[in-house]
Amino acid sequence: MWGGRFAEGPSAIMREINASIPFDKALWRQDIVASKAHVAMLGAQGIVTPGDAQAIADGLDRVAAEYEANGVPEDWDLEDIHMTTESRLAELIGAAAGRLHTARSRNDQVATDFRLWVRDAIDQADAGLEALQKAVVSRAEEHADSIMPGFTHLQTAQPVTLGHHLMAYYEMVSRDRSRFADARARLNKCPLGSAALAGTGFPLDRKMTAEALGFEGPTANSLDAVSDRDFALDYLMAASQCALHLSRLAEEFIIWASQPFGFVVLPDSLSTGSSIMPQKKNPDAAELVRGHAGRITGCLTALMMTMKGLPLAYSKDMQDDKPPVFEAAGLLALSIAAMTGMVGDSDFRTDRMRAAAELGYATATDLADWLVREANIPFREAHHITGAVVRLAESRGVALDKLPLEDLKAIDERIDESVFPALSVEASVAARCSHGGTAPAEVRKRVAEARAALGME
Ligand code: ARG
Repeated sequence: MWGGRFAEGPSAIMREINASIPFDKALWRQDIVASKAHVAMLGAQGIVTPGDAQAIADGLDRVAAEYEANGVPEDWDLEDIHMTTESRLAELIGAAAGRLHTARSRNDQVATDFRLWVRDAIDQADAGLEALQKAVVSRAEEHADSIMPGFTHLQTAQPVTLGHHLMAYYEMVSRDRSRFADARARLNKCPLGSAALAGTGFPLDRKMTAEALGFEGPTANSLDAVSDRDFALDYLMAASQCALHLSRLAEEFIIWASQPFGFVVLPDSLSTGSSIMPQKKNPDAAELVRGHAGRITGCLTALMMTMKGLPLAYSKDMQDDKPPVFEAAGLLALSIAAMTGMVGDSDFRTDRMRAAAELGYATATDLADWLVREANIPFREAHHITGAVVRLAESRGVALDKLPLEDLKAIDERIDESVFPALSVEASVAARCSHGGTAPAEVRKRVAEARAALGME
C-alpha cells in the first residue's frame, strides 16, 4: 500500500508485530457499513462519479457476503481489516476500488468502526441486563414474604426478605444500565471525515455520513476524533462496575449453595460435578462470573495504560485498544447470561432461610426498638438492656422469645408480655416499612414500580 516510499518490505518481526487482522477482523461488519456510508457521500458530493460509487458499494456487498460465508482471511501483509477489505474490493472491481479511500484515512476509519462496535456492545449489554432485571423482579415478587437472615460482616444482623435482597441487585443493575446509557450518549458522534488528523480539503458532507451510521452528528475536532479512545474506556468502566456487581451476586449464590447454608439449590444446567467426589455439585458458573470481574477490570486497566501519555494525534499504540474491549465484552455477556439463568432457575430453600433467620438473635434490634417505643427508654440504654438479654439467652441456648418473662423483668422491670409478638421474625420484617425497607408491603411496591419500568405488565 505504500510501496512507493519503501525500497524493502517489512521483516518478519515487523509484519507480525504490526498485524492487527487476527483480532480486528471482528470489526468487518462495521468496516463495510462505514465504507458504504463514506462512498455514498463521496458520490453524492460529486467527489467520485455515480458509477464508481455504485461499483464500490456493490463490491463491498460482495466482500461482506464472502466474509459472512467463509470468514475473514488473515494475511499479515495486509495488516488490518481495513486494508484486507480494500484489497479484496480491488480484486473484485478493479481500479475503481482505489477511489474509496479518497478523503479518508485509516485513522478516522478505525475510530468510526470501533465506535460502531462499542455502541453495539453497549446495546447488547443493556439488553442482557434488562433480561437479568426481569428475572430478578419475578423472583423477588415470588419471594416478597420469604424470610431470611440479613447480614452485616456476614454475621446475622436482622431478618430481611429474599425479595428485598434480590431487589437490591435490581437497583445496582439499574445504575449499571444508566452508566452504559451515559457512555452511549457521549460516544455517539462520528469521526469519519477527520481523515488522518487534520481534516481534508475535499468537500465532504460529514452530516450525511454521521446520519447514515446512526450518529448524532460529526465530531468537532479532527485531532481529538482520531486520537481519543475515551468512549472505549467509558464502556470498560461501565462494564467493570457491572462486573463487580455481578461478582457480588455470584458470591451470594456460592455462599448460599454451600452445605452449611443450603439456602439455594443451583440449576444443574449451571453447575458441574467433580471427577473424584461423586456427591459434588459445584457452582462453577458463579465462580467464573466472580473471576471474570478480575479480567474485565484488567481490560480497563490495560487500555488506560495504553492511552496514558500519548501525544496527539494517532499513535500505533492505539491499535492495542481493541483486544481488551473485545475480551471484556465477551466475558461480560457470558457473565450476565449466567447470572440471569442462576436467578431465574435456582431453587430457593425458603425453609432453610427461615430457620437460619431464627438463629443468631436476629430480632435483638426489635427488642431494643420495643423498649424505646413502649417503655420510652432512650435507644442507647435500650441497646444496653437488650445486650444483657442476648447474653442470657445465649448462656441458656434459647431464642429471645423463649426466655421466661420473669427473667426478662429481672434484667429490666419495664419489659412486659406484649414484647413477645414483637420478637418474631415476621413482626420484625413487617415493622421495617420505611421507604425502601424490607417489609413485604414495601418490597411489593418496589416490585410493582420495577415491573412497570420494565414494561412487564
Ligand atoms: N490497524 C490500525 C489500528 O487499529 C489502523 C490504523 C492505522 N493507522 C496508521 N496510521 N497506521 O489502529
